[in-house]
Amino acid sequence: MGRVEGKVAFISGVARGQGRSHAVRLAEEGADIIGFDVCADNPDVAYPLSREEDLQETVALVEKHDRRILTKVLDVRDAAGIRSFLDTSVAELGRLDIVLANAGIMPTVGEERFRESAFHEGVAVMLNGVFNTVEPAIPHLKAGGRGGSIVLTSSTAGLKGTGQGDPGTMGYVAAKHGVVGLMRAWANVLAKDLIRVNTVHPTGVASPMILNDAFAKYVEENMDILDTLQNPLPMPNNGMLLPSDVTDTILHLVSEAGRYVTGSTVTVDAGFSNRV
Ligand SMILES: NC(=O)c1ccc[n+]([C@@H]2O[C@H](COP(=O)([O-])OP(=O)(O)OC[C@H]3O[C@@H](n4cnc5c(N)ncnc54)[C@H](O)[C@@H]3O)[C@@H](O)[C@H]2O)c1
Repeated sequence: MGRVEGKVAFISGVARGQGRSHAVRLAEEGADIIGFDVCADNPDVAYPLSREEDLQETVALVEKHDRRILTKVLDVRDAAGIRSFLDTSVAELGRLDIVLANAGIMPTVGEERFRESAFHEGVAVMLNGVFNTVEPAIPHLKAGGRGGSIVLTSSTAGLKGTGQGDPGTMGYVAAKHGVVGLMRAWANVLAKDLIRVNTVHPTGVASPMILNDAFAKYVEENMDILDTLQNPLPMPNNGMLLPSDVTDTILHLVSEAGRYVTGSTVTVDAGFSNRV
C-alpha cells in the first residue's frame, strides 16, 4: 500500500525538475496525476524552460508505475485555462486530494534581471500563478469531503532578504515571500474542511533552473557572493539538494504522516535559513 494510494494530485511545472520528481514519486506511492507546464521559453528568463518532450517524458515515467496522468501545455498565468483543464481532469479521474504549486522561473541571472519587466514576470508566474493553481482546486478538495493537502513551493528567498536589489531578484523574493501569506491565510480558512496548507523552502536544487550556462556565468561574475550561498551542512552534490530531497519532504506533508502539519514554512535547506 503506497503512502498516497488512490489519491489524485494536481501539479504545476510538471515537465521536469522538482515537478517531475514529485509526479513520479507520488505515482510510485499510488496516486494519479494531473499536471501542466508552459513548455516554452520566457523572454525575461536567461535560460531555457521546458519543452513538450520533457512533459512527454514525465508522462512515460508516471505510466511506468501503472498510474494515470493527464497533462496539458498551459501557462500558469492563464487562470481560465487552468480552471477548465482541472475541472475536466477531476471529472475524469473522479477526485482531487493534493495540490502542488511548483512552477517557477529564476529571473535572477543574466542581463534580463535588470529589466523592470523581470520583476513583474516573477510575481506573475510565482505569486499570481500560485493563486491561479490553488484557487480552482479548492472547490474540488472540499467536494471530496475527505480533506486534502496543498503545498506551495517557495524558497529560502521566501524567508530571507536575498539578492542585490535588481528587479528580477526582487520579483523572485517578493513572490516567494508572497506565497507564505497565501499559505497562512488559506491554512486558516481551510482548516475546518481538513485541508492543510504549507510552504516548502528549498536551498539550491540540482535542476535545470540552476544547472544552466546563465547561472554558471552569473556565479563566475559574482564570485564574491559565493560565500553567502553556502549551506552549513556539508552536501555531497556540489552543495545542492536533489529534486528527490524536496519530494521526500512534500511526500511527508501530503501523506498521513503529515496530518497535523498545516500553516508551516517547512525548510529543506541544509541549515541555510538559520545561518548567521
Ligand atoms: N532549483 C532551485 O535551486 C530552487 C531553489 C528553491 C526553490 N526553487 C523553486 O522550485 C520550483 C521548481 O523549480 P525547479 O528547480 O524544478 O526548476 P525547473 O526550471 O527545472 O522547473 C520549473 C518548471 O516550471 C515551468 N514553468 C515556468 N514558467 C511557467 C509558466 N508560466 N507556466 C507553467 N509552467 C511554468 C518550467 O517550464 C519548468 O518545467 C520553482 O518554484 C522554483 O522557484 C528552486
